[in-house]
Order: sequence, then structure tokens, then C-alpha cells
Amino acid sequence: MQCVLTPDTEGYDQIDSITTGASVLVEGLVASSQGGKQKVELKVSKISVIGESDPTSFPIQKKRASREFLRSVAHLRPRTNTFGAVARVRNALAYATHKFFQDNGFVWVASPIITASDCEGAGEQFYVTTLISNSAEGGSLVKDIPSTKDGRVDWSQDFFCKPAFLTVSGQLNGETYATALSDIYTFGPTFRAENSNTSRHLAEFWMIEPELAFADLNDDMACASSYLQYVVGALFCLVLNSVKYILENCKEDMDFFNTWIEKGIIDRLNDVVEKNFVHLSYSDAIELLVGSKKKFEFPVKWGLDLQSEHERYITEVAFGGRPVIIRDYPKEIKAFYMRQNDDGKTVAAMDLLVPRVGELIGGSQREERLDYLEARLDEQNLNKDSYWWYLDLRRYGSVPHAGFGLGFERLVQFATGMDNIRDTIPFPRVPGSAEF
Ligand code: 4AD
Ligand code: MG
Repeated sequence: MQCVLTPDTEGYDQIDSITTGASVLVEGLVASSQGGKQKVELKVSKISVIGESDPTSFPIQKKRASREFLRSVAHLRPRTNTFGAVARVRNALAYATHKFFQDNGFVWVASPIITASDCEGAGEQFYVTTLISNSAEGGSLVKDIPSTKDGRVDWSQDFFCKPAFLTVSGQLNGETYATALSDIYTFGPTFRAENSNTSRHLAEFWMIEPELAFADLNDDMACASSYLQYVVGALFCLVLNSVKYILENCKEDMDFFNTWIEKGIIDRLNDVVEKNFVHLSYSDAIELLVGSKKKFEFPVKWGLDLQSEHERYITEVAFGGRPVIIRDYPKEIKAFYMRQNDDGKTVAAMDLLVPRVGELIGGSQREERLDYLEARLDEQNLNKDSYWWYLDLRRYGSVPHAGFGLGFERLVQFATGMDNIRDTIPFPRVPGSAEF
């Protein structure tokens, strides 16, 4: 807001203290602007400095600062235009998320942050232990950890009497509630100790995980598509009623992203809302990639997982920016809980891909048949005993069910056009960085 002072304004003598970063209290009358870029300005009658800011040391100067630099001052970056806008759009997307699920009869369930199971089976978990802190004073940390005769950690002496981790996904717990209450969703922080320094990975991110009872993969894909169209549409007032007030706030922010961050993003998001998503089987996707004759860094072959470059080629080049859902992946590259298809080779899995971000959603129909699920745990060398409660869901009144997980920061990235996922969460956690 442009504030106009004259030498007669009360407090004018403090003008030298009104520097970048200072906080001030301003009183006056809003009037239409005399020229300039702003519609209105404030004719100040009184001004006083509340908190001074030393202009020689305040880290964020008026000139444009790089995103990398702003990450090093994450405690001050929310004061910039860009990070203010990201925070508001993130808030609107969270509100729209709850609104979508609540209006459709889903119950929000809190899944635990500390867990003893590895949902994705990828071994990317952070340990939660008091063994280290309890012995930290001695200096030598590892030596003091109790071990069994064969030299392994003696977990019976740890806080939970067994290995415990920060959760990688709330899904397994979500399934327990879906098979009791019907449709539920979780929305909370999840953690992955994967050492990938990319623009799409965080060690701590928020995940939205709906779980639908009496549902198959088609229901799951339909839910994922409606959800994405709803929350993106919500940013442009396409959804009315009570969501409207935040949407109006977002309009200015979306114009800002459209002008300064990614030109044309509003049109591209509108397309997402209005056009149908492309559906493709994994096998067809492999054929498409092989047929493209494009040189990829990673090999393309039936049985291998799709890499980000493949996913981006499919949505950005092959389908001109439309979201694409790929289904029926080889069972070897997917988690143990996914339902086996009749071909014996693939599972009822789906990934939803969007331009720039690649995989935004990963989901599946769950294996509801006890014998199949037990066989799958054996095949993947997972210990059936530690999944006893999860298997109980198949022992007692098992129902077909399906769900998906959406990485909330990837959604913010997609909706704002921000290049790097580290700029979509207030305090990013990535390898080598947990300062703030
Ligand atoms: O595909 P993922 O690993 O699926 C699951 O965790 C299932 N349990 C979900 C379910 O069916 N309930 O992760 C789901 C989504 C990904 O599609 C991606 O958007 C996001 O979570 N994600 C990450 N986002 C940021 N940083 C990371 N390191 C991420 N890993 C996954
Ligand atoms: Mg996935």
C-alpha cells in the first residue's frame, strides 16, 4: 500500500527510522490513487515506528533476491510478496481439501506420526529412539547403545521396546478406520529419509490420504480426478458457496503467479478443471515411450519403474499438458498391499501425473484377500507377524477398498508454478538442512 506523508504529518520526524523491514503503525484515510500502479493509497495523518530495523544488516533488501538466498533466511522470507502468496494459496488448498472431503461424507482421521511399520516397504524411515539421547552425555554415542549377543541393537531397551520410526504414510492406519466407518481421509505430516536432492522431494512433507470402502480402482481414480479438479477450481472461484471467501483472496495471488512465476499458469489450471484426464495402462505407457524414439537417461522396458523424465514426457509432450493417470503396474515395482490383477503380473495401482511435477498422486485398490496378501508379504520377505493387525482387517469382514496419497507440497508446486518444492512449505527439511 502506498502511504503518502507530508512534513505536516504527525510522526514525520521519525522518517529516518522507516526503513526496509521496520514495523510501523499508520493511521489515515484511504483514497483513490493519484497515478501510480495502485488503485488506492493511504493519506497518512499519523505514523509511528513500532519496531526498528537496521537497514545495513536487514538481510532482505528491496531488490529482487534469489530463491536460494531466501531459503537461507527462511525466518524472514514470508515477508516477501512471493512467499506471502505461496502461504495464502497453500492455506486455500488445505481449506478446499477439507471442504471437498467433508462435503462428500469422508471422516477425517488422525494417523500416528510414530509407527513401527514401514508402509511402503522402501526402508526410507527415520528412527525414533531415546537410546542415543540417553547416552549422549558420554560423548561416544554408538558405543553405549545396548546390543544383543550377535551385535545387533537391543531394542527391548529402547523407549517403545521395538524399532520405531517417523511414518512414511498413514495409509495402513487409515484402512482400519475405512473398514469401520466407510470413507475416511488423513491429512498430516509424513517423513522419508530418501537421499534425493531434487526439486520434487522433501524429507518432511504433508500427505492427504483418502481411503474408500466398498471401492475399486475405478472409484479411486474417479475420486482422485474430482478432488484435483475441485481444489484447483477452488482457486478461481469456480466452486461457490462457502468456499468463496478464500477464493476471492486467492485471485490476486493467482494473478501474481501468472505474471511473475509462470506465465499462463491460470489457463493451464483452467484446462485441468475443464478437460478429462487421460487414462493409460502401464503397458501402453511403456509402448508410447519406446515408440517416441526419444533418448531418455534411464532405460524404458516393461518391468522397470517410470522415472520423472518419462512421466514428464507423457504428460507434457505426449498429451500436451493434460493430467494422465497410469494404471496396472508390474507387481514387482509396487508395494505389498496392492491388489493383484487376474493376469498374475500386474497390480491395481494408479499414478496421477501432471506437467512439471510428474507424479502428484499414487494410489491403489488394496489386496482384501487374506491368502493373497500373506503370499505377497512372504514374497517380499516382510514379516507377517508384525502386520498381524493389518491382516486382521482381512480376517474379519474384509471389504474391497481403495485409496490414494497426494503430496500436498507437490500440489502447491503445481498450483503456483514454483520451480522448487522447497519453496512451497514454510520450513523445508532436506538432506543437510534443518536450520529453522
Ligand atoms: O506414491 P507414494 O509413496 O504412496 C503412498 O505413500 C501410499 N501409501 C499412498 C496411499 O495409497 N494412501 O506417495 C504418495 C504421494 C506421491 O505421489 C507424491 O506426491 C508424494 O506422496 N511424495 C512426496 N512428496 C514430497 N517429497 C517426497 N519425498 C515424497 N514422496 C512421495
Ligand atoms: Mg508413488
